[in-house]
Amino acid sequence: MSTATSHLMPTYNRQPVSFVRGEGARLWDDAGRVYLDALSGIAVTGLGHAHPDITAAICAQAGTLIHTSNVYGIPWQAKLADRLAAISGMGSVFFGNSGAAANEASIKLARLFARQKGIAEPKIIVMETSFHGRTMATLAATGNAAIQKGFEPLVGGFLRAPYGDLAALRALAETQSDIVAVLVEPVQGEGGVRPAPEGYLRGVRALCDQFDWLMMLDEVQTGIGRTGQWFGFQHEPGLLPDVMSLAKGLGNGVPIGACLAAGKAAQLFAPGNHGSTFGGNPLVCRVAHTVLDVIERDGLVARAAALGARIRTGLSTALAEVAAVQTIRGQGLLIGVVLDRPCGELVRRALDAGLLINVTAGSVIRLLPPLIFTDAEADELVARLAALIVDWLAENETQITD
Ligand SMILES: Cc1ncc(COP(=O)(O)O)c(C=O)c1O
Repeated sequence: MSTATSHLMPTYNRQPVSFVRGEGARLWDDAGRVYLDALSGIAVTGLGHAHPDITAAICAQAGTLIHTSNVYGIPWQAKLADRLAAISGMGSVFFGNSGAAANEASIKLARLFARQKGIAEPKIIVMETSFHGRTMATLAATGNAAIQKGFEPLVGGFLRAPYGDLAALRALAETQSDIVAVLVEPVQGEGGVRPAPEGYLRGVRALCDQFDWLMMLDEVQTGIGRTGQWFGFQHEPGLLPDVMSLAKGLGNGVPIGACLAAGKAAQLFAPGNHGSTFGGNPLVCRVAHTVLDVIERDGLVARAAALGARIRTGLSTALAEVAAVQTIRGQGLLIGVVLDRPCGELVRRALDAGLLINVTAGSVIRLLPPLIFTDAEADELVARLAALIVDWLAENETQITD
């Protein structure tokens, strides 16, 4: 089964493979070849493929009620909102269908917050090398010129600061008026798997409190257990953002995003301010509820922390003597192996060897294995990836000296 057709818009440079079946951390292509999935559909399928509890939830709800409308009550949506509020400490939830849509809701909340303060032209501070999505507002917020190119004029109202730099935020506070919010990822995923420096999020919180800004976290990639806490901000005890966006791991593959708000941001939206036809329908909410049940029942948040440490330690040991490996960083099961050279080629090499990985920011191998990885699968990933890197580097060296 090929995806080659002139009827798809060519928005992706696709790898030459089509998967037709999955189970746990393995995928099978249309020729029957098996692959180890260390990417999870880019941080989505945290419970792996064809998880029996997820399949059962989908089947049960599909046979009961898939969609009504947000003009009616949706019991599974209310139940999921309560559950998300309980594990995050946030106060209210809006459901959409994607990470970008969740961030759009965050940005709209910041604009309403500005109106409440009597600010007509508000500014939101966003970061260099960030990624927030591909809609018009979220691509403007994203710190990557290549993603913005061709779509000008960009949505205005964003100021940019270097990631992890509290002094830069303070400088903006002193030189700019009408700032209302900071939007930041606890770990920059697309930007090269960059964890926030120790104390950074706490520092952002303090500045937001001092200047009455909303602290808005994009946890689309970091949320739902991936970093070894339910949410990335929970690595700093006692911290709570005002707004947080989620998607990816929340639905294990069914499209769901969520924007959560707390305190002064929790009641900003009023009827008519925002909406979504599909957002939070009974099917996706029941599935997301089941995702949270399984993660809790099987202790997968702690497991993500342990597996992440195991993989990072394993790779550090296996690659200790490899000079081209600059550092191995990340949090939980969001892991980056930083090379001293562009390494996009490794994605195809790994694919040919039956291993799914990603390269981001040009020279960072990004690993996003599912939370249900066994220790044996973690060790297999370490051994296979280390061998691939070493072989590829050896070939590169040979080519250079030839
Ligand atoms: C941090 C972050 N925010 C937002 C998005 C956009 O999410 P979506 O593709 O679901 O719109 C992504 C996707 O990679 C992401 O990593």
